[in-house]
Amino acid sequence: MKGRVEAIIGAQWGDEGKGRVVDALASRVDVVARYQGGANAGHTVIVEGEKYVFHLLPSGMLYSGKTCVIGNGVVVDPEQLLKELKELQDRGKDRARLVISGAAHVVMPYHKTMDGMEERLRGSGKKIGTTQRGIGPCYMDKVNRCGIRVEDLLSEDVLREKLSFNMEIKNMYLTRIFDENPMAFGEVFEEARGWGEKLAPYVGDASLTISSAVESGSNVLLEGAQGTLLDLDHGTYPFVTSSSPVAGGGSVGCGLGPSMIHRVTGVVKAYCTRVGEGPFPTEDTDVDGETLRNRGGEYGATTGRPRRCGWLDLVALKYAVRVNGLHAIALTKLDVLSGFDKIPVCTAYETGGDETIHFSGNTGFLDSVRPVFKHLDGWKKDLGKSRKMEDLPAAARNYVSFIEEETGVPVVLVGVGPSREQSIVQGL
Ligand code: IMP
Repeated sequence: MKGRVEAIIGAQWGDEGKGRVVDALASRVDVVARYQGGANAGHTVIVEGEKYVFHLLPSGMLYSGKTCVIGNGVVVDPEQLLKELKELQDRGKDRARLVISGAAHVVMPYHKTMDGMEERLRGSGKKIGTTQRGIGPCYMDKVNRCGIRVEDLLSEDVLREKLSFNMEIKNMYLTRIFDENPMAFGEVFEEARGWGEKLAPYVGDASLTISSAVESGSNVLLEGAQGTLLDLDHGTYPFVTSSSPVAGGGSVGCGLGPSMIHRVTGVVKAYCTRVGEGPFPTEDTDVDGETLRNRGGEYGATTGRPRRCGWLDLVALKYAVRVNGLHAIALTKLDVLSGFDKIPVCTAYETGGDETIHFSGNTGFLDSVRPVFKHLDGWKKDLGKSRKMEDLPAAARNYVSFIEEETGVPVVLVGVGPSREQSIVQGL
C-alpha cells in the first residue's frame, strides 16, 4: 500500500507553532520535508525538556530513523545549515538522514548584504522588516535564472563560472548603488567550495526521495515555513516573504504532483501575531496586546524582535482555509488566552460603511478596514493539564467550537502549553 503525504502549513503570519504540530505527527511519518523559505524561519521544538531552534533543518531531524528533506523550493544558507547540523552532532541528536535537493538555491554572502542594503534604501514607511537573511535577493536570482544551486557547489568549474558571472554584477550593485565595498571573488569562491565539500554527502533528488518513499508505503509530512498571509502571491504584498508558504508551494517546492498531497492541516494560533511591517487589522497595540506578548513569549525565534500581537481574525482565517484547501486546523497556544474576561474575535471587516467577510491581500484595502469583533466569554482556569476536550472549561470549548463553526473546518489539535505532552489531540 502506498504511503500518505500530509502538509502542515501556517494559516496566519507565521509563528503559529508549526514545529510542535510537526513534532506531534513525527512519530507516524517516515519523511519530513521542507518546501520553501530558508533561514528566515525559526521552528522551536521542546523535546524531553530540551529546547531546539531550527532555522533550516526540518523539525523531524530530532528523530532517529527519519529521512528529512530540504526541497528544491528552499533557499539554503550553507553556513547556517552546517551550524545546525554541528549543534545536533554536539548534542548527540544527529540521528536522522538528511537529503538536500541539488536544485535548491544557495544564499550567498552578497544576498545577505543586499537584503540589508535594500531595506535601508526603502527607508521607513516602505521597508518590509525582513529577517535580513538574504531570502529576497536569493529568490530574485532564482527567478532571474542566474542563481547558484546546491548542485553547483559540487563542481569547481561550474561554481567558478556561475559565481564569477554573479559577482561581477553583484559588485556593481554593491559599489555603484549601495556605495559599499566590493566582495573579493577568491574569498567567496573558497568559502562556497568548502560548503560543497561538506554538503556533498547530503545532496540528492528531493522529488525522487519522497515519491519513492510514498511508493514503498512510507508516510511523508511537508513542513511549511512562515504563513499564508506572508505568501508572495496570496499574502499582504509587498509585506510578504519571497516564497510560497501555502499548501500549493508544497507541491512545487518538493516536486510532487498536487494530487499526491492527501491532507492539509493549517496551524492557527488562538490569537494573531505578526513580525515586521505590514497591515494587521486585529492588532492590539494596547495593554491586552502587551499581555498576549508577555504570556505567549512572542519574540521572534530568528531575530528576537517583539512580535506584534492581536486577536484572532476569522476573515483572514477563512481566506487561509480557501487558498490552502484546509482539511483540518491545529489550534495552538489556547492557554495564553486564559485570564481574559472577554476575548474579541474578528468576524467581519467594516470598510466605507459596509461590512465584508472576504479578505484581500491588498494593503490599501486592509489599511482601510476596521475589524468587527464578537466578544466571546473568557475563562480563568489554567489549561496546562488538559488532555481531552472535556478537561477544558466550557468557555474554552466554546472558543474552539466557534472557530470550527465559522470556518467549517474541524480542530484536530489544541495546544495548551509549550511542551510536547500539553496537547489535546482529536483526529490529527
Ligand atoms: P524575509 O522572509 O526575511 O524576506 O522577510 C519578509 C517578511 O516575512 C518580514 O515581515 C518578516 O518578518 C517575515 N518573516 C519571515 N520569516 C518569518 C517567520 O518565520 N515567521 C514570521 N515572520 C517571518
